[in-house]
Amino acid sequence: MVKINSNYLSLKDSYLFSTIAKKVKAYKEKNPDKRVISLGIGDVVLPLSEPVINSLKTGVEEMAKKDSFKGYGPEQGYDFLREGIRGYYSEFGVQLDEKSIFISDGAKSDLGNLLDIFSKDNIVLIPDPVYPVYVDTNIMDGRKIEYMNCNAENNYLPLPDFNVKGDIIYLCSPNNPTGAAYNREQLEKWVQYAKEIGAIILFDAAYEAFISSPEIPRSIYEIEGAKECAIEVCSLSKTAGFTGMRCGYTIVPLELECEGVKLNKLWLRRQTTKFNGVSYVVQKAASGVFSKEGREKVKEVIDYYKENAKIISKVFDELGISYTGGVNSPYIWIECPNKMSSWEFFDFLLTEANVVGTPGEGFGENGEGRFRFSCFGDREDIEEASQRVFKALNDLK
Ligand code: MLT
Repeated sequence: MVKINSNYLSLKDSYLFSTIAKKVKAYKEKNPDKRVISLGIGDVVLPLSEPVINSLKTGVEEMAKKDSFKGYGPEQGYDFLREGIRGYYSEFGVQLDEKSIFISDGAKSDLGNLLDIFSKDNIVLIPDPVYPVYVDTNIMDGRKIEYMNCNAENNYLPLPDFNVKGDIIYLCSPNNPTGAAYNREQLEKWVQYAKEIGAIILFDAAYEAFISSPEIPRSIYEIEGAKECAIEVCSLSKTAGFTGMRCGYTIVPLELECEGVKLNKLWLRRQTTKFNGVSYVVQKAASGVFSKEGREKVKEVIDYYKENAKIISKVFDELGISYTGGVNSPYIWIECPNKMSSWEFFDFLLTEANVVGTPGEGFGENGEGRFRFSCFGDREDIEEASQRVFKALNDLK
């Protein structure tokens, strides 16, 4: 008789953001007169910029003509897009080989798919709290997970501990959910540790565009030796409003080896078997992100979301509630007031302020008693939500 992958039975019943969406839907159905504002899932609201739309239109027109129509694309993505990414990285001093860049349909898929090239016997080292995808994809494979505590004492930035080892190490900086970001010296420690113990770092750089502090690296490859121990995964979702378009990229350096095997070769083998690439029109649109005008527009949009972050942070500054993030990140991570649990605080905010956030517990045990606000939103909504949150919390005092 057919058997299921029983590892799935060890997962929580539903994915964090699906659970939240269900709760919010139920609340809205019971309270149709309430206008609920979501600062929950980090989903962008501003439209694609003009350079991106122009590139997209060009792509669509090309697909309509016999002499420029495209069928299957190149295995790792079109050269014009990989060249754009290479140029972008060179601006922060990272030289990438074009063959190391693989265009993907987003960071989430690749973070899960990459596990295909690693043995299920590897131990993974994962921060807690963390983006749930790292944990769930490893549970699905039945891999052993070691957690690293992230808390106020280590500013939510755990550093390597030679007593706790993993073969695959997940790092996300700027971090989802805490908004904390590693500086150069801290990342150097991680690279040194990974090389010493023979581990691979899976570096999630999905929020790199939010970095404005010079001491925070945009890429793990700004650290010497990282190409020998790290894979970097990035996304255009938050950078350029691609949550609905779906485009990202993964960098597997040519020098990266495991048991004498080049990981770039293994990943190419995996991708050519299980993935047929991102559509031409989406890759064409994505190339607009890396043009000069596209880069300027990215900055404008990121500045807009960062201004939102300032507006929300001000609420917690005024109320004396401690938090991290909101500076090099679109997320603000607060301590729930009055020792409320994170789901209690979720219900409180939903009913008292009609504002949705993300309960910290959904990101791991250390997230209990913490709560995440996302700054992706229209300015008017952010201002209104901030006022409502301020009022609800002030009334609690
Ligand atoms: C989040 O809110 O954590 C993200 O938007 C989820 C994602 O990128 O998949």
